[in-house]
Amino acid sequence: MEFAIKSGTPEKQRSACVIVGVFQSKRLSTAAKAIDQASEGMIGALMRRGDLTGDLGQTLWLYNLPNTLCDRVLVVGCGREREFDEKALQKATVAAVRAVNASGATEAVSYLTELAVKGADSAWKIRQTVIHTEDALYRFDQLKSEKKPEAKRPLKKIVLNVPTRRELMKGEQAAREGMAIAAGMKRAKDLANLPGNICTPTYLAEEAQRLKKTFRKLKVEVLEETDMEKLGMGALLSVSKGSEQPAKLITMDYRGGDKNARPVVLVGKGITFDTGGISIKPGAAMDEMKFDMGGAASVFGVITAVCELQLPINIVGVVAAAENMPDGRASKPGDIVTTMSGQTVEILNTDAEGRLVLCDALTSVEKYHPAAVVDIATLTGACIIALGHVASAVLGNHSPLVNDLLTAGKDAVDPAWELPLWDDYQEQLDSNFADMANIGGRPAGSITAACFLSRFAKKYHWAHMDIAGTAWKSGKDKGATGRPVPLLMSWLLKRAH
Ligand code: BES
Ligand code: MN
Ligand code: ZN
Repeated sequence: MEFAIKSGTPEKQRSACVIVGVFQSKRLSTAAKAIDQASEGMIGALMRRGDLTGDLGQTLWLYNLPNTLCDRVLVVGCGREREFDEKALQKATVAAVRAVNASGATEAVSYLTELAVKGADSAWKIRQTVIHTEDALYRFDQLKSEKKPEAKRPLKKIVLNVPTRRELMKGEQAAREGMAIAAGMKRAKDLANLPGNICTPTYLAEEAQRLKKTFRKLKVEVLEETDMEKLGMGALLSVSKGSEQPAKLITMDYRGGDKNARPVVLVGKGITFDTGGISIKPGAAMDEMKFDMGGAASVFGVITAVCELQLPINIVGVVAAAENMPDGRASKPGDIVTTMSGQTVEILNTDAEGRLVLCDALTSVEKYHPAAVVDIATLTGACIIALGHVASAVLGNHSPLVNDLLTAGKDAVDPAWELPLWDDYQEQLDSNFADMANIGGRPAGSITAACFLSRFAKKYHWAHMDIAGTAWKSGKDKGATGRPVPLLMSWLLKRAH
């Protein structure tokens, strides 16, 4: 999709389609008023007759309106004017985009970004609109033999209007940011939606090499199992032992900032399929464990967006990729392994594999002397019990970092919520036979998982994001969400400015 920014009145737009908003209680937006006045009160009349209620998400097509230069007008219901917030803007945008895409109009000029949203400026509304537009039109059909397009003449270009010419430049920058974030989310969704037989650790390593071809600035390094053995990554290797697919530790290094500036490091859990291993999972919905590389997918997404925008920051994306399978060679409950840090771990449950691949990755990134490390992982079912599918969990050893991520989540409408990483929880990991166990029992399962990781993140500022509930949707709309790419990008954009 192409996006452009413009400033002009709606009745003068020579376009296939003009999109304007109306509210409940017969209240017209500024743009709707302009169309209404030009067309001798057409919109007002429809509202009085009851054809147009202004309910949030309602759409009505109007053709051949007198004294307008466009082919058609799409009127979009925006709900109660006083309640118009970022969620309402999203709903109205999605409804509009779907309607236009199905209409035959290949381009449209939208005035929805002019509607007042509390606490939001034009730039923010434009960025969000671009993201929501791409999200609404996203489809994963690479593996369908017949690709039936949703629309015969799909929407190709959207022009977003800003109230004054002074806002054009800022608006264009916001659109660029929105497009990069949307491209990052698409990368994350595409990777996560791929099935486990295609998206293996090797596939992820190849994906990193493909990214390097697109973005010349990127340096890519892939460690093989033999390399990891030399480094003493006994925990990571214990996970891939039962699989025919070799583990890969993938590094994507982007230096757009000051040569001496310490990098931000993102570490993604890349379990390309999680059967649970010998502690095998029950069969129901096990297919969804192909999404267990959602953290890794978000790292690919963020690196994509950062490269597209050529942000002036240094960032290293690390993906710990492995497949967790039961096998004669697989790790067994009770096995004890030595991590790269030297600490030993008793594997009481082979299904708590995410922390095993992450702990060695966390040790290995010490060499970058990071400004901050954030790991992103579909780590615990307990996180879904705690926060559902609304918020990602954040825990960390440095409260400014945690707070920055929480703020970024708010800004991006990609919410996160902090869970306590108190020492009181650490004892749940006590083991009679090794330095620690890899599970801490049922109580506070997401926190004890983070406690485990914290023991490998002592040398830098670190935060952990558990995205088990937010990385994908189940049911009819099953599929990856692209979260938390928007949160991470908000955080990085703020750091870059
Ligand atoms: N990948 C799962 C976590 C998960 C489960 C994410 C369901 C999304 C939906 C993780 O590897 C896992 O199996 N965790 C175990 C940990 C337990 C054994 C301590 C879990 O949550 O049950
Ligand atoms: Mn597991
Ligand atoms: Zn897992």
